[in-house]
Amino acid sequence: MFNLKEFQQRRSQLLKKMGEGIAIIPTAPEALRSRDSHYPYRFDSYFYYLTGFTEPESVLVLVAGKHPKSILFCRDKDMEREIWDGFRYGPEGAKKEFGFDEAYNINQLDELAPKLLGNQAKLFYSLGADGHWDARVTGWLNAVRDLVRTGVVAPAEIVDVRQLVDSMRLMKTPFEIEIMRHSANIAAAAHNRAIKFTKPNKKEYEIEAEFLHEFYRSGAQSPAYTSIVAGGANACTLHYNANNCVLNDGDLLLIDAGCELDGYASDITRTFPVNGKFSAAQKDLYELVLSAQLAAIAAAKPGNLWNAPHEAVLDILVQGFIDFKLCKGSKDAVLESGDYHQFYMHRTGHWLGLDVHDAGQYKDKAGNWGLLKEGNTLTVEPGCYVRPADNVPEHFWNIGIRIEDDVLITKTANEVLTKNAVKTVADIETLMKS
Ligand code: GLY
Ligand code: MN
Ligand code: MN
Repeated sequence: MFNLKEFQQRRSQLLKKMGEGIAIIPTAPEALRSRDSHYPYRFDSYFYYLTGFTEPESVLVLVAGKHPKSILFCRDKDMEREIWDGFRYGPEGAKKEFGFDEAYNINQLDELAPKLLGNQAKLFYSLGADGHWDARVTGWLNAVRDLVRTGVVAPAEIVDVRQLVDSMRLMKTPFEIEIMRHSANIAAAAHNRAIKFTKPNKKEYEIEAEFLHEFYRSGAQSPAYTSIVAGGANACTLHYNANNCVLNDGDLLLIDAGCELDGYASDITRTFPVNGKFSAAQKDLYELVLSAQLAAIAAAKPGNLWNAPHEAVLDILVQGFIDFKLCKGSKDAVLESGDYHQFYMHRTGHWLGLDVHDAGQYKDKAGNWGLLKEGNTLTVEPGCYVRPADNVPEHFWNIGIRIEDDVLITKTANEVLTKNAVKTVADIETLMKS
């Protein structure tokens, strides 16, 4: 999906925020996987947000001021390379199709960049994001500084361009929401397919193959992050991704997987019984996490603090941990001591968008939690992870549960983008019987 106007508007908005100066925003480099084989290429999210352009070796330059302009540097057309690697727009094609004011061969960048930087008051650049680019940009700045006796002045100020774009990326537009809804629907269908396919004695990777199948056949370009397919005790390792164990009758299976569609991530976790039926202990903890998640989703609405869903989760989980004899003492005492961290050691969500842990601040400048606003997209993902320990009732040992949905903040409340992935005990057990 491409919407020329929207990308042009984003560049105009950033140019306005800059006021004066020049922004240099390179896309991501290609990365070698082994010898001369590359990882599948993934553009830089900031660059893509402002251009919609997916070719490697590209740089966006924005010049703010009275006559703002956007300039793309990209690879030239090259019939020989295109026979091997595929189509390239070339500067002329890119300028026309993607709406830049000017476009040049990427090979001209080292020659033109110092000229563009001269007499600009500020440089907007993400210093520290990539050491190679930092060195190159420093070289251009020094080349400009060398011209001081000819009257040319180098930028006196370097501003992190990411901070300006982050606040834009936090507020999703209808165009972005449509893609995110689609990405979420694909991932939800993929989880349902994986749940339906699960049986004792299958391997974790066999289940992974099922949801990957659904991602790709539905047009997603990639998983959005390394998938977690964690049977039994593996679910208590938060970033488990070996995905190579046998699924045992009587265990739960936790799957944390989402896809990337046109740059936008979905991020879903579902936990369900390998044999299709929750045991009493599994059901107790599952219902607890689910009620915490539903309370957190209810708290995800405009005007509430970012932290409201997390606080809703703690309120319910901690009481449950006390009731199930996982924690001792009053709710206030357990919240105060942090004893619940033994079973719930992560936070309840993150922004979601072009990056799975998306750009954007969580606190305001005074250090207070920010407010949720219409157009924000975030995950809501409480969990409970019980490792064997002397202070833990044995029937809960090795149960790891997380339930994660993607939520869009609307004008009055929210929309759960991933609502099509089954979640209640009854719906999961019915799907697994079918
Ligand atoms: N799958 C990454 C996360 O849940 O944050
Ligand atoms: Mn997540
Ligand atoms: Mn996740």
